[in-house]
Amino acid sequence: MLDTFSTERLNQCTHGEVGDSLENGKIPYFPESPVELPSEADLAFLREELPKQLKSKNVSYHPETGSIRGLEKGTAVYDKTREVLTKHSRRVSEFYQDSMPELFKNALIGTSSFRPIQERGRDLSAHASNELIHFDAGAYGPTNGARILRFFVNLNPVEDRVWATRGDFPTLFKSYAEEAGLLEKIRKNQLDKTTLDNIRTGALTGLTKAGLPLARLLDNSPYDRTMRQFHNFMKDTPEFQNDPQGHQELSFLPFSAWTVFTDMVSHACLSGQHAFIWTALIPLENCRHPDMAPINIMRSAA
Ligand SMILES: [Fe+2]
Repeated sequence: MLDTFSTERLNQCTHGEVGDSLENGKIPYFPESPVELPSEADLAFLREELPKQLKSKNVSYHPETGSIRGLEKGTAVYDKTREVLTKHSRRVSEFYQDSMPELFKNALIGTSSFRPIQERGRDLSAHASNELIHFDAGAYGPTNGARILRFFVNLNPVEDRVWATRGDFPTLFKSYAEEAGLLEKIRKNQLDKTTLDNIRTGALTGLTKAGLPLARLLDNSPYDRTMRQFHNFMKDTPEFQNDPQGHQELSFLPFSAWTVFTDMVSHACLSGQHAFIWTALIPLENCRHPDMAPINIMRSAA
């Protein structure tokens, strides 16, 4: 599942190579981060200060407001974190712009976050837990079938970040869509927006334009709700979590980076502390393999 891009391969590859790997449900893995990382002093600051100051699950930079969630405003820690995460967000965008410009065209850039807490044994509810295998469902407001692109960097100097997967969306949808109750929904044409969906989107878009940029994050779409149902089924079903079929563990070395369509690759983070996670939505029409996209797999099942 890992598709390793050494610096040499990355420098020589075509514009489509990283994107094709993503669309085909692989994880482009960079043993050496292709994105410049903050200075060692800044990294030490994030590792030491943020666990102490954390006010929510993560510390995230929101580009639509230029603000940080998860830290108290008006402090030196807040300002420094915003500076580091803003710079990281820009560098990741530049990397995609260079390495896969066609797929990245008109991407909606989302949050850039730092994960300060050890993932193993976090006391989170099942649906919020990162330790249970799932596909991401909805991100940064409604996706309407757009792809959820994430870029990860392990910033722990000594500990690997360890993931588990049970495979890609096409495989798991085929095996579990019926049991998860998705086929019934899809066959009733419930992937299309209802009048109520259109009213809600209209109202939230209006609020966004009226100066409440976070309002759009409250919106969703029928496709996102179907993905949410699958996400919850996976996390709520111990038989799914424990089934060895397709189960793999993946280790990401200190200072390595990897990128994933997290709507496409099932994943859980079993352990690791200190990581950057950057998110964007990629328009579905940019995909060179649209038949592999979850929304089209659902549509063809109908
Ligand atoms: Fe996830």
